[in-house]
Amino acid sequence: MSPLLATSDKSFWHGYTGFYARHFPKEIKGSILEFGVFKGNSIRWLLTEFPNATIFGADILPVQPEWPIDARVTYIEVDQGHEAQVAELVQNIDHLELIIEDGSHVPLHQSTCLKHGMSALMPGGTYVLEDIHTSHPAHSQYKDEFGNTLGQTSLSVLLGVEHLLRRNQPATTREIDALANGSHFSVADVSQLLAQIGSIEVYKRTTMPSSCWRCGSTAFDYHRFKCECGVDLMHEADSMTIVVKKRR
Ligand SMILES: C[S@@+](CC[C@H](N)C(=O)[O-])C[C@H]1O[C@@H](n2cnc3c(N)ncnc32)[C@H](O)[C@@H]1O
Repeated sequence: MSPLLATSDKSFWHGYTGFYARHFPKEIKGSILEFGVFKGNSIRWLLTEFPNATIFGADILPVQPEWPIDARVTYIEVDQGHEAQVAELVQNIDHLELIIEDGSHVPLHQSTCLKHGMSALMPGGTYVLEDIHTSHPAHSQYKDEFGNTLGQTSLSVLLGVEHLLRRNQPATTREIDALANGSHFSVADVSQLLAQIGSIEVYKRTTMPSSCWRCGSTAFDYHRFKCECGVDLMHEADSMTIVVKKRR
């Protein structure tokens, strides 16, 4: 594993790195877009991992002093909650081969970015929806959006699309209507995703994290599934990521 990722929660908490090594593209000559720059660590990793790619980092923040400066990197100030900004951003990037969405993790923002991102990706391109567990009904960010009502999110729709694609026969109108039942994806959106998506790989951590995200400890109460500091180690809405490949 790259030393740039070893200190990231993608590695020690979520355990995404082995899954990404299997499902990320091996080489990129076109463009990469990442939503969510934070301290710039994943941009640093992308710079070393894809030496021939042009990289775009999108964040609600203006450029921060710690973000890496490189001729191959451009930063764009975008609010994922503003659909027109997201649409304009992705349409203005040529040869988009990889999108990593690791921004606000707000369920509605995840859906907005997925819809526009999938349309803008090149055929055969890769879309990574990191931390999609925030769109799980047991997660606080899902509850913030939907309260105690049932929502439709990128997680429920992508799991539905994966189920229908796996069956290897066209989805019926009734199945599409059932998936489109909600506020994030219309019938046209679901039909479009079904036409665009070639494959969906889903990861959910099923083992203990390597160390605690809050206190760094490895002293775990294995029977209670808790760290000694009280953090829940095996919550049902935690450590999920999805890699979507667009059809060629
Ligand atoms: C999880 S961090 C990104 C981590 C980074 N990808 C990495 O792996 O090092 C989330 C980032 O999303 C940004 N963010 C939060 N809300 C946003 C929004 N509405 N639109 C765009 N970016 C947002 C935050 O400013 C923060 O930098």
